[in-house]
Amino acid sequence: MHDDLERVLFSEAEILAGIDRVAAEITAAYCGNEFTVVSVLKGSCVFCADLIRRIPIPLQLSFVAASSYGQGTEAGELTLNYLPSNNEIEGRSLLLIDDILDTGNTLYRLKGELLARGAVSVETCVFLDKPARRAVEFEADFRVLQVPDLFVVGYGLDFRGMYRNLPMVGVLKPAIYAATASPTPPITLDRGVRDSVEPSDPRP
Ligand code: XMP
Repeated sequence: MHDDLERVLFSEAEILAGIDRVAAEITAAYCGNEFTVVSVLKGSCVFCADLIRRIPIPLQLSFVAASSYGQGTEAGELTLNYLPSNNEIEGRSLLLIDDILDTGNTLYRLKGELLARGAVSVETCVFLDKPARRAVEFEADFRVLQVPDLFVVGYGLDFRGMYRNLPMVGVLKPAIYAATASPTPPITLDRGVRDSVEPSDPRP
């Protein structure tokens, strides 16, 4: 699997050092306040597992799953596949965790949805930030690392459902995309079930 990488952008040691820093920021920000971490499936699960174990204050954990339309349909249209129950949202301070902030549509929409459902506050924390691709005005409250405008895999991020278990973040060799390229454009991007579809911005 490692052989499929053209280059490594962030080693495991760099990633964990960044997570230590952000975990300390979150601990300071939420100390004395009850809060719930809401992990966006599936991409943020690796990051979230490492992050919460470095936050030594009480928190609850919840999950959300959403699908967004990819190429060929209107950008930013988000379908919620799974949301926490009302009592996990209403009156709670939420910290929404995602793997990567790209166009910003996902977190922008999810934040609005959770606030509309009664959350007291919704802050956001991303493992990677790709500011070059932002389509809506949105910045995360906490972020670990910034990436250039490249399609990346590893540490939770996938290409066709694979590579999430790489401990580092890297860029795939062009041959990998060429070998799996589909002749038809993808219809949807499902963060919960993405294995059978293309990513939003692979650079074959
Ligand atoms: P938006 O554009 O709404 O979407 O901020 C964020 C979601 O898009 C996916 N994404 C990627 N997935 N490598 C990936 O494996 C990437 O470089 C990449 N860029 C965006 C991802 O599902 C993320 O949650």
